[in-house]
Amino acid sequence: MIDRNFLIASLSGVLFLMFPIKAGAQDAQAVARGQYLARAADCVACHTNPADNRAFAGGYALQTPFGKLLTSNITQDIETGIGGWTEAEFSRAVREGIGRQGQHLYPAMPYPSYTKLTDADVHDLWLYMKTITPVKNRVVSNQLPFPFNIRAALIVWNLWNFRSGRYVDDTSKSKAWNRGAYLAEGLEHCNSCHTPKNLLGGDKSSQAYRGASLQGWYAPDITNSHTLGIGSWHKDDLKTYLKTGSVGPYVASGPMGEAIENSTQYLRDGDLEAIATYFSDIKGQEASLPASLPASDPRMHQGKAVYEMACAACHRSDGRGVSTMITGFPANRAILAPVKDSILHTILAGGRGAMTHENPTGAAMPSFSWSLSDEQIAAAATYIRNSWGNNASAVTPEEVKAMRRTLQFRQVGPVPDDWSLSGESKPDLSAHPAMHP
Ligand code: HEC
Ligand code: HEC
Ligand code: HEC
Repeated sequence: MIDRNFLIASLSGVLFLMFPIKAGAQDAQAVARGQYLARAADCVACHTNPADNRAFAGGYALQTPFGKLLTSNITQDIETGIGGWTEAEFSRAVREGIGRQGQHLYPAMPYPSYTKLTDADVHDLWLYMKTITPVKNRVVSNQLPFPFNIRAALIVWNLWNFRSGRYVDDTSKSKAWNRGAYLAEGLEHCNSCHTPKNLLGGDKSSQAYRGASLQGWYAPDITNSHTLGIGSWHKDDLKTYLKTGSVGPYVASGPMGEAIENSTQYLRDGDLEAIATYFSDIKGQEASLPASLPASDPRMHQGKAVYEMACAACHRSDGRGVSTMITGFPANRAILAPVKDSILHTILAGGRGAMTHENPTGAAMPSFSWSLSDEQIAAAATYIRNSWGNNASAVTPEEVKAMRRTLQFRQVGPVPDDWSLSGESKPDLSAHPAMHP
């Protein structure tokens, strides 16, 4: 009997000889698919150092709770990149977190999510990576202090936190739901930012998507909880947010802005739809929120004064901001979140909304670290969390001080509430693009 595999192999050999151009076109299609997957997985964001902007050449410093890690050079350079790697070695690094020499990679490389990728997707990803121009750039990734610099310790980490294995469809759910789960849990690794972490930095999977702190930001609860998450968002709202960078008065900034700019804005409509289907089904917890602070509270008095002087020109006295440009505060769950990192980060460091093809402007907010004291910032943040029907815990000056330390901003002395600082260092907000929407 003729060996079928042999027949197929020789047939495809003959076909290849007959139609070499056809095969080239198939490769091109696979590379295009690989590029789409690389965007969805946001490889470029971590593997590019914003200081020199050489795509995939590594050297970007990730701040982890345990210290600093530099990302690897994954261009095709043979000496300093992955140019000499085999596909099997690549696949093992991406899905199992094992480097070329058999060493364990730190889970800051999201292999605990990428382990879910199908063989076909890893293959296309590999074909795309083969097209990346080699860049010579030697990176020593491990900059962690003792004892975290010992890679062998990751064996223990993996034992507790890592389950190797491809995504398995949940047959009780729709096709769109499963595609959404594959994207969210695997390629897009939404969980790596939004799911609370245990002491070792692994996902607390029983609390999936209930909010987590990272690098001085807070990735809020995105479950379907009405009181804590995005349960009151319409399904199309999440699609719009991931495609354009904002939906109504909810403007993405910080790490989410980057995820949208580099990754989710490129997703096809069907994939965005799938992600929205999946998240509308992620169960959250409902909470009883604290009562609003009364307007007579001295912190609210001070907060209103600071707000009217420094914030209302952009965010408006009614707190509603400007749709798709300037964050609105009423009923904004991210602003009411129990963890205030993103709010304080933005007030201290300033910020910018995501810039996407559909919304290229990305309005910015100035830094107030130099012009407002900890007490004034705490009061303004308390005010926006307790006005216009909002109710959330007050923000303390100690919390502001802690965020200043995280961001390494120096402390400013007492600043009078009428902002009577020298005219020259005061920002001229009238010239700001956000003031002329
Ligand atoms: C959230 C940040 C992040 C993202 C996203 C990310 N990586 Fe990484 N990657 C890292 C870090 C950090 C390391 C170094 C880990 C270490 O040395 O232990 C790394 C290491 C690697 C390595 C091993 C390189 C070597 O020389 O050992 C490969 C290969 C790799 N990444 C490929 C990818 C690909 C492909 C993607 C997209 C599918 C990707 N990475 C997405 C952070 C990231
Ligand atoms: C690199 C970390 C990171 C990744 C990856 C990430 N997020 Fe976020 N996300 C954040 C942060 C931080 C915020 C808060 C942004 C802000 O304050 O403007 C946020 C905000 C959001 C919000 C707004 C919530 C609200 O109440 O305003 C939604 C919705 C969201 N993310 C969904 C997702 C989805 C879906 C994915 C995966 C496709 C994802 N995120 C991936 C960090 C991340
Ligand atoms: C020049 C206009 C401008 C001024 C003045 C301004 N903001 Fe903003 N603010 C913005 C824009 C634009 C955004 C959306 C982009 C971003 O989040 O960085 C924003 C976003 C925010 C956010 C949301 C942060 C997040 O995590 O998404 C908070 C909180 C905030 N501002 C508070 C304040 C406070 C408090 C003041 C006054 C002390 C103030 N802003 C003054 C323009 C301004």
